[in-house]
Order: sequence, then structure tokens, then C-alpha cells
Amino acid sequence: MCGIVGYVGTQQAAPLLIEGLGRLEHRGYDSAGVAVLGTRMQVVKKAGRVQDLVEALPKRISGRLGVGHTRWATHGPASDVNAHPHTDAAGTVAVVHNGIIDNAAALRQRLVAAEVELVSDTDTEVIAHLVAASAADTLEGKIVDALTQVEGTYGLAVVHADFPDRIVAARNGSPLLIGVGEKEMYLASDLAALVRHTTTVAHLDDGELATITATGFTTFRQDLTRTATAAAAVEIDPSAYEYGGEEAGEGPRMYWEILEQPASIERTLRGRLDERFGTAHLGGLNLDPRELRAIRRVKILGCGSAYYVGQMGAGLVEELARVPADAEPASEFRYRNPIIEPDTLYVAVSQSGETIDTLLAVEEIKRKGGRVIGLVNVVGSAIARACDGGIYLHAGPEIAVASTKALTTMYVGFALLALQLGRVRDLSVADGKRLVAALQALPAQIEEIVKREGELTEVAGTLAEATSMFFVGRVRGYPVAREGAQKLKEITYRHAEAYQTSELKHGPLALISEEVPTVAIVPDDELTERNVAALHEIAARGGPLVVVTHPEVDLGDVRAARIDVPKSEAELDPILLTIPLQLLAYHAAATLGLDVDKPRNLAKSVTVE
Ligand code: F6R
Repeated sequence: MCGIVGYVGTQQAAPLLIEGLGRLEHRGYDSAGVAVLGTRMQVVKKAGRVQDLVEALPKRISGRLGVGHTRWATHGPASDVNAHPHTDAAGTVAVVHNGIIDNAAALRQRLVAAEVELVSDTDTEVIAHLVAASAADTLEGKIVDALTQVEGTYGLAVVHADFPDRIVAARNGSPLLIGVGEKEMYLASDLAALVRHTTTVAHLDDGELATITATGFTTFRQDLTRTATAAAAVEIDPSAYEYGGEEAGEGPRMYWEILEQPASIERTLRGRLDERFGTAHLGGLNLDPRELRAIRRVKILGCGSAYYVGQMGAGLVEELARVPADAEPASEFRYRNPIIEPDTLYVAVSQSGETIDTLLAVEEIKRKGGRVIGLVNVVGSAIARACDGGIYLHAGPEIAVASTKALTTMYVGFALLALQLGRVRDLSVADGKRLVAALQALPAQIEEIVKREGELTEVAGTLAEATSMFFVGRVRGYPVAREGAQKLKEITYRHAEAYQTSELKHGPLALISEEVPTVAIVPDDELTERNVAALHEIAARGGPLVVVTHPEVDLGDVRAARIDVPKSEAELDPILLTIPLQLLAYHAAATLGLDVDKPRNLAKSVTVE
């Protein structure tokens, strides 16, 4: 979703801004633009890709300070005029903005009544006019004037021709980071845009503003009192952010992220398993065994695929710890005035740590006195910082919009949590050891599945031919089916619907035909027989079948394309059953010649409600 970059220093800004925007492309966007301040302000913006912007740049765009933006349309369609930066009528002020101004309509009316000509449909443009209209004599004062009139969420950056040495940035609900260089400073909404230049960064907090010049930065609140935000080195490998870089090789990033899963899971597990006592050690939870024992319920909140993995996680917590657990879309939670209980452990799960719905759910829980831990990939992200403790996933940067390696590390994170919760309760040491061994075996088992990728490509090709299909599973297999359907529809634009296998005959069976395939999750467990019976019902109606199963399962005379995965312990089977579904979606999209990494209409981080 929208991305911000900024630069002030000794180099020409335009090429650096363009490079930064290129690094934000994976987030999803539909237009892009830059404002460069040299002897005058130059603003160039285009609907389409960053490459379209590059082609539109004049040869002579000069200045050592500027801001850039990738926009994901909210107010008004993707067009040149709606792209950011937005300016006032004189072109003195340029603003880039992530988030949504809730009272934009009222502010627009007021500006129109004051005979200000608004040229775009956006909420952001009003900020440029409000800054320009302020009588304050500093840029900081002008921006504070503007922001006191604005309601909503923002991460924004402003440049002003009368203050050519500085960018002023402000944050309320939309992330912003300052990157510290040698006689130069960077600004970005995402670490990915900075890491090639610096790994010394400062995160702005909500309600904070910053003035950034070539030689340093200062942070302050809206009342202009200083805050103590400091820069610190982040421990990351910048090469991990390279798109199709050395490790990743050529081709779509999603593919390499699928292949990386054995390594990412190893990182999630590293140092957290205790073989001797059959348990996990999650120091970041900030909960001692007595507090862990006092938990009576676990409530998991996430969005999209993170919610589906949350459902798998709830299953793990109930099975291993026998603590009632459920998952709910974070996007819905806040709106039903949820009852927050003191003995419930709330768990927010998010790859980006930026998803606004999940962040707002966390804030609602905290406002009502609840305790929230985070299962988050991006270190230092808004959700990670808002939680009381948590488990970092260590999946490494995930660039493709469709999430794969982050999700499987989330699953492992839940397994570790469930194991630790279980072992302070009634899970025996023998069961604990059984699960520790099974977790340790996962990376090699995933390798095995990926090695047999060739067998999946033909099946993927037949799925790509269908315009509508079902994914079905029961109990542990149901969230697996949901995630499989999600991955397929996101990147192939085919209609895929997930159902509990047991619910088929209560309605959807009416849709089964030769044109509508079903991908069925049939693990070797206590429900195998019932699952196989459902396969017969589908086959009897001519429905083509793809069955993701275990070698031990006898499908009898059911005609199906069969995909076997190695058996784990029953509780951990879902993660291995998920891997072929990722590969099926990927190969189906590749067969269709689609841009796998940048599916239409979707953004990597959903930072608006
Ligand atoms: C699916 C997908 C989305 C995300 C969801 C939550 O492939 O990527 O459904 O899972 O938007 O994002 P995070 O995990 O960043 O909170």
C-alpha cells in the first residue's frame, strides 16, 4: 500500500527517490510521484508503474532534497492528478501522505468556500493548502497548524520552497522511519526503501513529528516540545531485501519465498526448543509460568491469511494446552465492542506489523486493560511495539504480496506458544518431546515436498483452466483449505471457495460439476474415513478432484490427482499440507502468465481501514 521516501543530503535526490520507490513497489500501488526541491520545486507524478514515472521525468530535475510516493487509490481513481505529491496552488508546498484523512470532505468544503481551487479528488491535497495558508513563521509551525485541523491517520512528509534545507514529517497511525547517513538523511515508510543506504534508523511514534536536514534530525510533539527519539542500528542483512538477488536467483519473489521456508522455519525455531524438558522457551512473552497458568482463554486476531493461520494456531492451543482458543478477523473485532477479559491472552498476528485493522484491535484491547502479545515478522513495527511482548518470527523480509514463508513461520510460532502453554499445564513431557522432535523435522520435510514440485505443475495447469473451484478440509484441515483458496484467488484471479468438507452436502454440493474442481485436504487422522466418503460424493457428481494427503491414506477407487506430503505429528500436519497449496497457486498463476508478485488490486501492507 502507499509508500513514502525522502532524501536530504549532498547527492542528487531524484535518482535516490526513484530507487527507493522501486524498493516499495512490492507493497502494491497504482501511481507514483516525486517532488524535488532545488532552485525551484519540481513535481512529477504519473498513474502506473515507477517505470512510467521515470519515463516522465524531465532530463534536468535537480535538487538535493525531495520526497517520493507510491499511491494506492482511496479517494479518487488512479490518475496523474490524484497521484502524490500534492501541492498548493503556487507549487510552494509539496506533501506525500499515507493513511486517510477522515474529515477531508469537510476540509475540502471549507477550502472551496475560501476560493481555493482543488485540483484532485484526494484527501491529501487539503494538507498542502492548509500548510500553505498557515501564518506560522516556521515550517514546523505551519504543519502543526494544518494537523490540528486534520482528523484521521497519516504518515506524511512535507517540503516547502521557503525552507529548502528540511523535510518535516509527521506520524499518526502510519509508519515512518528516518535513516541516518553520512551528511545525508533518508525518510521512508518501510525499511526496505532504506537498507541499501543505511541500517541506522529511528522510528517515529504516533503523535510525533520530525525535522530532517542533511546533518541530523529532531523529533517533537504537536505542542512543539522535543521528544527523545534516537536512531539505533537494526540487525538485518540488506541483501535479503534484494529483489531476485543473489540468494533468490531470477524469477518471481513468491517462488523463492516458498523455497526459503525450511530456512525461515529453522530461524523461527532457533534457540527456542528445549529437548530435555519437551518444551519451548519464548523469553519475549514477558510472562512467567504462574502468569501462563492463569490464562483461561486465548483469542487470536489477524487479517486475511494471518487470520487463517490464527485459526490453525487456535487449534494448536486447544489441542496442546487444552485452553479454549479461537481466532477472529481483526478487521471485525473492534466494531462489535468486544468484551476484554483479564484472564484471556490476546495474540495479534501479522507479517508486516503494520496492518491497521490489527493495530487498532491491539489498541482497543489495551485501552480496555487486556494483555496482548504479538506474533510479528517485522522487527520494530507498529504492532510489535504496541504489544506487551511477543514472538518475532524471523522469516526474513517477505517481498511478494501473497504471503507464504511468513505464514508458515506464524504457524511455528503458534506451535511454540501452544507447547509452552501446554507444558505449564497438563501436556506430558513425553508429548512435549514428541512435538519438539516433530518441529525439528519440519524443515527437511518441507524440502521433500518442494523437491517433488514437478508433479504439481501439471495439476496446477488443470486448476488454472477452471474459473471456479472449491477447497475443502475438516477441523485441522479447514483453515488449510481456507489458506489454499486464498492463495489461489489472490494470484490467479480464479474464484476459489473454502468449505468444511462436512458442510458440502448442506448446500455447495449443488455446484459440483465437471467444470468445478475440488482440492480436498485429507490427512491421515481420525477423520480420514469420513473425508474419503465425501470424496466419493464429489466424484459421483463428476467433480474433478485434487487430494492433498498422506502416503498412508487409501483413497480406494476415487479418481483423483493425488499429492502426498510427509506425515508429521497430527497436530502439526496442517503446515505440511499447506506447502503444496502454495505451489499449486504459484504454478497456476505462472501458467496463466500473470504477475505473481504484484497481484491486481492488492497491497502488501494494508495500512488503511
Ligand atoms: C495473503 C496476504 C494477506 C495478509 C493480510 C495480513 O497472501 O498476504 O491476506 O496475510 O493482509 O497482513 P499482515 O500479516 O502483514 O498483517
